[in-house]
Amino acid sequence: MFKGKFITIEGSEGSGKSTNIRFVQDYLSSKNIEFISTREPGGTPVAEKIRDLLLDNANTSLCDDAELLLMFAARSQHLNELIIPALESGKWVISDRFTDASYAYQGGGRGLSWQKIAQLEQWVQGSLRPDATILLDIPVELGMERVRERGETDRFEQEQLGFFNRIRESYLKLARENPERFHIVNTQPAIEYVHKQLIQVMDKLTA
Ligand code: TMP
Repeated sequence: MFKGKFITIEGSEGSGKSTNIRFVQDYLSSKNIEFISTREPGGTPVAEKIRDLLLDNANTSLCDDAELLLMFAARSQHLNELIIPALESGKWVISDRFTDASYAYQGGGRGLSWQKIAQLEQWVQGSLRPDATILLDIPVELGMERVRERGETDRFEQEQLGFFNRIRESYLKLARENPERFHIVNTQPAIEYVHKQLIQVMDKLTA
């Protein structure tokens, strides 16, 4: 549909998203591919305000449905204000998380029905789906260790191990169900090996 590709990067906490997104950005720049890099929840001024609300540790009373709806409210703003115009102008879009995170966190983590999420996905996105999704995968305990080393934690990062196990399982389930879209990159090994896997994926996507 668009000339540029819509690539989303997913992963559980501590899976090395920031470093690996930088690597993907450098790869695209080296190929002279025009792109924008953004994130969810967030990416536009209004959606970033919704992000603040969602991550704020003070919001202990936020109920699960409201959390899900806020994710999709932010997504709607993000799509209309930033993602779709960028794709229409021929740019690639790299998004740090997208709707798979709602299936994994609100579906798997919080236990909301996947059917409800699918309805919102259809409403907010119509037929728009990412062209490719890179899933950065790491065993949960290792990821949580990395998060603890970083220091301060947000409203999601304060959850318990079981929550993150369900998230990882949900991501792997999504990958199994959508093998043509998902590319799993194991971020446990040394950085050189992680980069090697990412180059293989990006070579395929830019071929
Ligand atoms: P980040 O830490 O990767 O920037 O993401 C912010 C948090 O938001 C992270 O804990 C995952 C969570 N999240 C959801 O729960 N559902 C969603 O749909 C998205 C996009 C993020």
